[in-house]
Amino acid sequence: MATIIDGKAVSASVKERVAQETAALKEQKGITPGLAVVIVGDDPASRVYVNNKKKACAAVGFYSEEHALPADTTLEHLLGLIDGLNKREDIHGILVQLPLPKHLDEQAVIHAISPLKDVDAFLPENVGRIMIGDFHFLPCTPAGVMELLDAAHVDIDGKRAVVIGRSNIVGKPQAMLLMHKNATVTICHSHTKDLPAVCREADILVAAIGKAKFVTADFVKPGAAVIDVGMNRDENGKLCGDVDFASVEPVAGCITPVPGGVGPMTIAMLMKNTLMAAKLQNG
Ligand code: GUN
Repeated sequence: MATIIDGKAVSASVKERVAQETAALKEQKGITPGLAVVIVGDDPASRVYVNNKKKACAAVGFYSEEHALPADTTLEHLLGLIDGLNKREDIHGILVQLPLPKHLDEQAVIHAISPLKDVDAFLPENVGRIMIGDFHFLPCTPAGVMELLDAAHVDIDGKRAVVIGRSNIVGKPQAMLLMHKNATVTICHSHTKDLPAVCREADILVAAIGKAKFVTADFVKPGAAVIDVGMNRDENGKLCGDVDFASVEPVAGCITPVPGGVGPMTIAMLMKNTLMAAKLQNG
């Protein structure tokens, strides 16, 4: 039976570390990290995420402010808001909650954020920095996966890692981070031939495909570390990951559950990025 990796506990310890460093930054330099969260429209899932981000900011000792804009906000207005936030000294991180309403060009909005305040690490400058291994911010989900592997004492150096999914936000940066830790990495996607056979080579298997219970026991080498980035609903409307937990858990060495695995890590990593942004901007 696999060891279950407890994302809630690891997230709590990352946030505790951030809280301690924040207290020191306040005491030594009089700086309070500040995060501005922008939400446009009334998507219920986005509302829950934004509330959780604000709560986490309060828990670690950050200043945060929310800019809740109506669904019919113009691009011009949103860009004006971001321009103002870019110039503020008390705001170190800017997070525009996605998805935006369809009439707003997401790329234009994201590109308006100063790279130094891009705590999602979505901008080309920050993505490029990951490629060359000289980064300030890491995208929250792949960075959270690395923390989980570390907390579970998974040996990465020289191991075979397989990432299923090639998105700009998860799959691609995940592969880079594993490579920087000296794994031999394969990225799989919808065109990969004999996907289960490729996955069975993996000592570390990261599933980020967005298909409920897609990864079954026949994808998994006995003893492998299996990290599930998925967040889906199963046929009964119950929250589930990209991994068929019941079938994989007896085969894996360690595994993350959904919920309670990667999910809680993303906000902890956002806190870490915002603290880093405050330090960077105060040189
Ligand atoms: N919507 C869902 N996940 C995210 C995220 O990590 N960042 C932003 N900005 N929006 C999201």
